[in-house]
Amino acid sequence: MADDDRTGTASERPVALVTGASAGIGEQFARYLGAGGHDIVLVARDRARLEALAKDLDADHGARAEVLAADLTDPDELERVESRLSSTDAPVDLLVNNAGFGTIGRFDRLPVDREVDEIELNVIAVVRLAHAAASAMVSRGHGAILNVSSIASRQPTPNMATYAATKAFVSSFSQSLHVELGGAGVHVMVLEPGFTRTEFQDRLGTGEEEGRVPEFLWTTPDTVVEGALADLRRGKAVSVPGWTNKVMAGSSSAMPAAVTRRVAAAMMKTD
Ligand SMILES: NC(=O)c1ccc[n+]([C@@H]2O[C@H](COP(=O)([O-])OP(=O)(O)OC[C@H]3O[C@@H](n4cnc5c(N)ncnc54)[C@H](OP(=O)(O)O)[C@@H]3O)[C@@H](O)[C@H]2O)c1
Repeated sequence: MADDDRTGTASERPVALVTGASAGIGEQFARYLGAGGHDIVLVARDRARLEALAKDLDADHGARAEVLAADLTDPDELERVESRLSSTDAPVDLLVNNAGFGTIGRFDRLPVDREVDEIELNVIAVVRLAHAAASAMVSRGHGAILNVSSIASRQPTPNMATYAATKAFVSSFSQSLHVELGGAGVHVMVLEPGFTRTEFQDRLGTGEEEGRVPEFLWTTPDTVVEGALADLRRGKAVSVPGWTNKVMAGSSSAMPAAVTRRVAAAMMKTD
């Protein structure tokens, strides 16, 4: 855990809004940012988990944590989070657009409504929240947006077709914004984690398939978040924490598409 480097009073602390803060990578972002001196707005659907985390952040770091329970696939609930990002009374300095989920299986066998929800959460919510944050940050002349993508963004992934496509969107979108908004004082960075042990795999329903991924490729949310926050401080456009992920990301760009499609298909095989 990072050292608590706070120097000011609660009202002087910068504010970060983290989506998907109730578990996994988002929860670690909230804990690291709280330890590093931020107050946090916690967003996810599970209010009880967010409230427990808010208590921890206060007790461990004296961080003020607001709980904003919302299903980001619901337009009205998403709108409440957009409004929070637009607030001029309690401005948000850092948006961590982290909430997301995957689906696995042959496309025609997957319920189409779940595929659409995946696009709503992984793409539409990311765009709407980034827009609300960017508008407020540009008018103040500073701020940062960290969008969580995946190394799955680097190549089409048979059996995770929708997921990989949503993350390709997030990576492309974020790198364009990095250039567009950089001159206006807003730093946009995309985080591309590899296989990270969180609740993601349970929600995907891949207890068995997890076994297809060699142990050395797995990492922890701590490692991902520590690397991401270091890269954010360095002003990077893209963060790929961990050397194994850097190798995988580099290989995806260097190898012929026909090869990377087959490798990805073998790792995500479901039958
Ligand atoms: N784990 C990996 O291997 C991996 C690899 C690369 C990229 N990623 C990306 O990392 C991000 C975080 O994933 P994770 O691994 O930390 O997964 P996780 O442990 O399953 O956490 C997902 C978070 O998203 C929230 N969430 C899910 N649906 C939501 C909705 N409709 N509205 C609001 N919040 C919602 C969940 O909270 P509630 O259930 O309380 O809403 C939870 O806090 C995702 O964007 C994922 O694609 C993960």
